[in-house]
Amino acid sequence: MTIADKLLAWYDSSHRKMPWRTPPADIKRGIRPDPYRVWLSEVMLQQTSVATVAAYFIKFTGIWPTVRDLATASEEDVLKAWAGLGYYSRARNLKKCADRVAREFGGRFPETAAKLLSLPGIGPYTAAAIAAIAFNESVPVVDGNIERVVTRLFEIQRPLPAAKPAITERVAKLTPPARPGDFAQAMMDLGATICIPRKPSCIICPLRRDCGAAKAGNPEIYPFKSPKKIKPKRVGAAFVAVNPHDEILLRKRKDTGLLAGMSEAPTTTWNSNLDGATGLEAAPFEADWKRCGDVRHVFTHFELELTVYRADADIPAPPGHWWSLNYKSEALPTLMKKVIEAALGDKMKGRKIRD
Ligand code: ADE
Ligand code: SF4
Repeated sequence: MTIADKLLAWYDSSHRKMPWRTPPADIKRGIRPDPYRVWLSEVMLQQTSVATVAAYFIKFTGIWPTVRDLATASEEDVLKAWAGLGYYSRARNLKKCADRVAREFGGRFPETAAKLLSLPGIGPYTAAAIAAIAFNESVPVVDGNIERVVTRLFEIQRPLPAAKPAITERVAKLTPPARPGDFAQAMMDLGATICIPRKPSCIICPLRRDCGAAKAGNPEIYPFKSPKKIKPKRVGAAFVAVNPHDEILLRKRKDTGLLAGMSEAPTTTWNSNLDGATGLEAAPFEADWKRCGDVRHVFTHFELELTVYRADADIPAPPGHWWSLNYKSEALPTLMKKVIEAALGDKMKGRKIRD
């Protein structure tokens, strides 16, 4: 039996059930996965865990059962439904992609990884995953779980990310032409349940006899990783104004760049040092601002530390809009939830900023 045969036999009996999956028994009876559902799940799973995605997936497919339905929705409604999943550019690209599939492709997703790659929000991993799972294209699918499994199987000691091409080549050789989608998902499941980062369960692994690292007794040393670059640090201040109705002053960020179009408490610019307007002098209006602590947040390319100020204020024409803690929330970035929680402290007791 090949590695793929063993893995697929294990997947047939032990696959994880997920609302977007077509189980292997159904696929064998000729039932094909719905490309819309595969695409939607893959975009949601890009930076979010399977456990969190499930409820959102069910909500989205309930409101918008097809890609055409999603194309008729407003971006605002899509962003609202997305609130809590984070990385909102994914939601914007999701909507753009649905629009293009509806308009340019008559509501049918293109069927190869190469063509899928040209759509908004679909990078090399997602294109390969959709093509393999939805369209049975025999392309290598490589996510973080699969990287771990493969570096262990073949004792690949070159560090990531330099090892990626070698890993992809191995996955391409392993992928069986008959069931590329099941194979990819089987590798993901193996990585999520058995070949886990710490203390993998090699004794019950279907691939233990083929696995170099298991034989050497050192699976945990894989995957090797290049030392992380330290992220530059930026600093600034955030201003939380609270009016007598327990409403907070928010403004909208510009439509491009980091956290595009999302709401925020007014902040200074985020500079790399303490020069310039990063403090109290940059408050949106004069008030009795009180310092309530610092908030840190790690973005992809830098680390941010904001000093949080709060003032009780009721001004007639605020530079933004008042937002009630009691309303059903709009999509607030995690950074801003931290800022508001730091500012409101005791007022937030027993209250949660809803997703
Ligand atoms: N992560 C991304 N896509 C997935 C899938 N289809 N199954 C399990 N985990 C995943
Ligand atoms: Fe991972 Fe162990 Fe299986 Fe090798 S034998 S693939 S290290 S779980």
